[in-house]
Amino acid sequence: KTRILIDTDIGDDVDDALAIALALKSTELEVAGITTVYRNAEMRAQLALQLLHVMGATDIPVATGIGQPIRNKVDSTVIPHQCRNIKTTYPPNCSLHAVELIIATLREDPDTVLVPIGPFTNIAIAAKLAPELFARSRIVAMGGAFGAVYPEYNIMCDPEAANIVLSSGARVEFVGLDVTAQCVLSENEVDRIYHCSGAAERYLCSLMDIWLHTSIAGKVTLHDPLAIAYLVDPGLLNMRSVPVAVEMDGEMTRGLTAVLRTPFRQRQAELEDNARIAVDVNVPKAKEILLSRVFNM
Ligand code: BDR
Ligand code: CA
Repeated sequence: KTRILIDTDIGDDVDDALAIALALKSTELEVAGITTVYRNAEMRAQLALQLLHVMGATDIPVATGIGQPIRNKVDSTVIPHQCRNIKTTYPPNCSLHAVELIIATLREDPDTVLVPIGPFTNIAIAAKLAPELFARSRIVAMGGAFGAVYPEYNIMCDPEAANIVLSSGARVEFVGLDVTAQCVLSENEVDRIYHCSGAAERYLCSLMDIWLHTSIAGKVTLHDPLAIAYLVDPGLLNMRSVPVAVEMDGEMTRGLTAVLRTPFRQRQAELEDNARIAVDVNVPKAKEILLSRVFNM
């Protein structure tokens, strides 16, 4: 089994909840913990607890993390849309802060794979506090857009954190927009999901419904579930080793993940591959993994 810790900004896009559900339904994985990040991390932890409650997995520790990115300033009182769904207060099942839980989990088992599916703030602070653990750890992140000239959300929300993680010595693998944006549920698939019975399925439907009615995207893209699906079936993605740098000062491009391959030999010699990025995805297989495991379809 692959032991994983999911660091999430569950509560806005529905894909975080789908990713956690997929991890819980995958016997190849063992979820050691869930940590929340970005803006209202407390409410996000409540939502994560609710999801675990519905899925009968309350033994998995949920730890609240950092709301404020390292340099960007954000309003952390905003209630994420999907948290409107929370009617009960769930007692915390973990006394640790997210950063402490990340470090404790790696200490317990250094092979635990960290899976950030939100901005990288918690992971970056943990890397600063326990560099010796990160030097040998593996991180599979949903983040980055490598063939694009625009930044991806998780990196853009905290570019400094992404930069720290990249220089931590960890083996970082990015499942970025290049592949995730291709994994969009069709109207027919959404319709079939809406017809599912079963408490967990109905619950996920209610979250999906909020997302479809509040987002300008108006569609369900399997960004975060793809990082989990890759851990279940590594053959799903083609990965390539590249030198990645995060743009931190660009006026228009802050948070851009640049692949620094230049035609100038002198510069190229200075740049070493520091990450693996996903360049190709088997879309039907990725969807099949999610739909069959989470929705029994
Ligand atoms: C990322 O941003 C969020 O909207 C998704 O949950 C995903 O983690 C995609 O850019
Ligand atoms: Ca996310």
